[in-house]
Amino acid sequence: MTRAETDNAAFNTAYQAWAPLSGELFAQASTVIPGGAGSSARTAPFGWKPYPLFIAQGLGSRITDVDGHEYIDYLLGLGPMILGHRNPIVTEAVVNAIRDLGTCFGLPYELEIEAAQKVVDAVPGIEMVRFTNSGSEAVGSAIRISRAVTKRRLIIRFEGHYHGWQDTVYWSNHVDPVAAGDPNSPRPIPSGPGVPIELEQTLIVLSWNDPESFIRVMAERGHEVAAVITEPAVLNTGCIMPLPGYLELLRSETKKYGALLIFDEVITGFRFSRGGAQEWFGVTPDLTTLAKGLGGGFPVAAIGGSKEVMSIIAEGRYSHSGTYNANVIQCAAVSATMDILATPGIYERQRELGFRLANGLSAIANEVGIPVIVEGIGTAFQMWFSDKPIHNWREADKFANEEIFTRWYREMLQRGVLFHPNHLENLFVSLVHTDADIDKTLEAAQGALSAIAKNL
Ligand SMILES: Cc1ncc(COP(=O)(O)O)c(C=O)c1O
Repeated sequence: MTRAETDNAAFNTAYQAWAPLSGELFAQASTVIPGGAGSSARTAPFGWKPYPLFIAQGLGSRITDVDGHEYIDYLLGLGPMILGHRNPIVTEAVVNAIRDLGTCFGLPYELEIEAAQKVVDAVPGIEMVRFTNSGSEAVGSAIRISRAVTKRRLIIRFEGHYHGWQDTVYWSNHVDPVAAGDPNSPRPIPSGPGVPIELEQTLIVLSWNDPESFIRVMAERGHEVAAVITEPAVLNTGCIMPLPGYLELLRSETKKYGALLIFDEVITGFRFSRGGAQEWFGVTPDLTTLAKGLGGGFPVAAIGGSKEVMSIIAEGRYSHSGTYNANVIQCAAVSATMDILATPGIYERQRELGFRLANGLSAIANEVGIPVIVEGIGTAFQMWFSDKPIHNWREADKFANEEIFTRWYREMLQRGVLFHPNHLENLFVSLVHTDADIDKTLEAAQGALSAIAKNL
């Protein structure tokens, strides 16, 4: 047996003793729910081995599993619980709205204007907005709108980014470098079966943070490009920040060739700052997609943009529809969440708290002799087990040590700290995590990283 196989066997045995009720519920769930969970992202192939924890409840920055373990939660529902679990203000706003108004009218209503206005006020690139149900839906609309507006077909996207599960963008996320070939000109690879291969003709895939390949492709085919879609900071490959000037380059080149720039801010929206990554980096896209964070944990997404671009919907030249779009639950949640996010100083405080955690983790790792690179902006970051900086998917694939990360996740779990077991995800710090949470996490990290260092 390899070292990893021995570790896995020992962990599986310990996990079954740690989480027996989760094991029973998983077996039961697996009889009626494919894979035993409502999203494949919650199953073993995505890291939740040998089976996912079943959750009893969450409150604030804490989450409790059915076996009675409480964790400081840095998974945060994969991002949406930006205000922690069961935020009392948002919960009350939603409950009141359901009780006083209803849920779904098939017609507009006043609260919808309030929610839209607050999003427009918060996000620099959004002058008009439509609410929808999931990030994948919002991205689907952004792609189609960009094609309708420009009357062009080509979309440029980047390896290692994730833009949801729709056919048009479900390509080249954590792609096999051998299959994708030359990083200067990668081949688009569908992220799973069922995606029509013909769509390859509608895509150009590039390595992110690589100005040369982008400039070259725009010079060759810029006039055919409908849109460039990017996560403004990549939160779907751990955490990767844009190199200085890179987002500005995407902005200037898209303008030059009459293509639209789409910032997929499904994760970054409301995360680094209230106006999202576009405010933080000072680069304004034509279209923005939002989801996680927008409704303080309630299911809502949005597609927004300049008046010029959104006029295609306003004038009825493009039909953006959806039975559940802008339902009462969504608009009540958005309105209440936007109010909380406008609290003066809230982002400064939490970024500082998150940086204290990130820098503290980095210092402990250095002290025990484990090379790490902690990358991100306080409220969302990843600790890469790497001695080299990571700028895009190819470098993550080459340099990030998955085996050590897995041990890190396991050591922290048993010390009461939960984050995603996959090194290509990240840690989220909510706006309600406290100094005490950070102290306790750093104390756990001291034990975890020391244990790992002893066994390297
Ligand atoms: C950047 C980004 N875009 C789009 C999506 C898809 O959002 P949803 O899962 O709500 O469909 C995700 C989901 O993680 C995402 O991270």
